[in-house]
Parts: sequence; structure tokens; C-alpha cells
Amino acid sequence: MAIKKNRPAEVLAVINRKGGVGKTTTAVNLAHGLSRKLIRRVKADDLDRVPDTSHLYRYKGHTYIITGNVLLIDFDAQGLCARALGVESGESDLGEVLLGEQHPSQAVISASRAADGYPRPNLWLLPASDNLERAKEILQSRSIVYFMDGYENKDQWLLNFLARRLSLVLDRFTYIILDCAPGLDTFSMAVHRFAREAIVPVKPDFLSMTGTQQNTDHVKEMQLRGVDINIHTIIPTFYVEKQRMDQQMVADLKQHHGELVGDPIPRSQLVAEAPGYQMTVFEIDPGYGNPATVAYQKLVDRVYYGQKVEG
Ligand SMILES: Nc1ncnc2c1ncn2[C@@H]1O[C@H](COP(=O)(O)OP(=O)(O)O)[C@@H](O)[C@H]1O
Ligand SMILES: [Mg+2]
Repeated sequence: MAIKKNRPAEVLAVINRKGGVGKTTTAVNLAHGLSRKLIRRVKADDLDRVPDTSHLYRYKGHTYIITGNVLLIDFDAQGLCARALGVESGESDLGEVLLGEQHPSQAVISASRAADGYPRPNLWLLPASDNLERAKEILQSRSIVYFMDGYENKDQWLLNFLARRLSLVLDRFTYIILDCAPGLDTFSMAVHRFAREAIVPVKPDFLSMTGTQQNTDHVKEMQLRGVDINIHTIIPTFYVEKQRMDQQMVADLKQHHGELVGDPIPRSQLVAEAPGYQMTVFEIDPGYGNPATVAYQKLVDRVYYGQKVEG
């Protein structure tokens, strides 16, 4: 089976204007989960029937076929995606790519830790570092100059710029997951709009609820203006079933957003600890013993099988 080529990736942004709601956790686990969907084990007897062997991957005596690749782009200068996955950021990062100092294909790194027993042959990362802050400042001021120069709209310039800069990698991936920074500055807006669809993690406390309400209203407002971004899924995070406030939050979200609300991700020590071991939930809990692992798998399936209902 050939890897999807010449077809732009499905770009999903994990967004919420608040910090600490589970964006990075969701982005990392979703990206890894999707990459696992795009690998199949091939039985030795069937190997002769594989027409194109260029996408075969061998690991510990087994052969796998890779049907697609996933790219995680870290849009937060803290650079937590690389740390959570336990991979070295290398020489270059997203900031340099955006400033034209580096070609995107040079900055994309493999997220595999095969040597440690965690092969991730089709998961890739475009990491971030402090350079991203520098790039953001430069691009935001440049967008204002273009605006004053008569460009129809400063958001549009930035959006076109991002799309142009990143288009060089778009058709090499089946999925591109954007881990967004909190906030709604011009740069973040352009990043959100660069994505086709948004995954919105929501943490059950009053402040982040208000933020997400604003955020989803905001996305809806953009849709009304004809901008091409949909909410794919609103995903309650840090969910404690026994807590009335948490149940209330999910009920409220469902009332407002219906089928857009995905199954809640339980609050779990395992989820919090996994990045410290540089593992995803699927690696730290391969037997799916923890409800949070099951919940993240459901989110992966929802994206992969497209069980999404238009809102
Ligand atoms: N379901 C969960 N249960 C327990 N801890 C979680 C859960 N999801 C995220 N965390 C922890 O909460 C903190 C904030 O999560 P993070 O994904 O970094 O949020 P954001 O990217 O929105 O700032 C991290 O320490 C993370 O490990
Ligand atoms: Mg984050």
C-alpha cells in the first residue's frame, strides 16, 4: 500500500486560549495514536505480495507496513513536545523555519525512540524553542507593516505566510497536529486558521470554562466570516467522574455543542507521569489498563474514522 502522496495533510490544531488545560498532552498522544493507526504488521507469508517495499519497517524480527506519516508541530516556544517524546530538538526549530533561516524538511525530526524500545517510525516533530518567540515578534510586526502598506488585512498576510512556509511539508503527511500556545494574538489566530479543524481541550474549572466558551464562540465567529476552520471535537480533560462540577461541565458542554463533545479524558496520574518517562499513554500503558489511555484511544479513533458530526 502506498503512502498518501500529493494530497494535503489533514491539519488539526489543538487550541484553547488558556494554558494548563491539556493541549500539549492531547496533541502528543493524539499524534502518536494516529501514527499507530498508520502501521500494520505484515505476516511473513504475505511479504511477497507487497508491491512496494519502500514503506516496510522492520523491528525485532517483525515486518510492518507504513501507510502514512504524522507530523506534530510545536507552536509553543516552551518546546515541551520534544521533551514529552524524549527526542533531541537538533539544530533547528520552527522559529528558524518561519524566518526562512531553515528549510522545513531540515527542521523536521524523527520522534522515534527505537533504541529504547519505543519505535515511532512514522511520527515526526517540528520542534520549537525560544527562536519561535523571536519569529513571532518579527512576523507580527511585519504583518502590521504589510497592513499599513495596503495589504487587505494583517491576519490574512500572516495566514498566507504560514501556509506558504509550511506548504513545503504538507503533502508528505497524512495528519499534521498543531500544538498551539495559549492566547489569541495575531500569530495564534493565523495558526488556528491555518488548520482545517480544531480540537479544543476543556478543563473543568470555571475560569477555563469561560475561556473555552470564548474560544468556541470565537471559532464560530470565524466560521461565520467564512474562514475555513471547524471545531472537530471539544474534549473535556482532567475529568473526575465523582465530582459534580465535572459532570455539570460535560452536561453543559453537551447542551451547547452536542455531538462535538468527545468522551472525557479522566484526570490520571499516569497521564501526568508519562512525559517524565518520555512516553505517550500508549507506551506507558500498552495493555489499556487505565481509563485515560482508553479515552485517548477513543479520541484517536474519532479523528481517524471521521466520526465527527458537523456543529
Ligand atoms: N488527564 C490528565 N490527568 C492528569 N494530569 C494531566 C492530564 N492532562 C494533562 N495533565 C498534566 O497537566 C499539566 C498541563 O497539561 P498540558 O498538556 O501541558 O497543558 P497545556 O498544553 O494546555 O498548557 C501537565 O503537567 C500534564 O502532564
Ligand atoms: Mg502546552
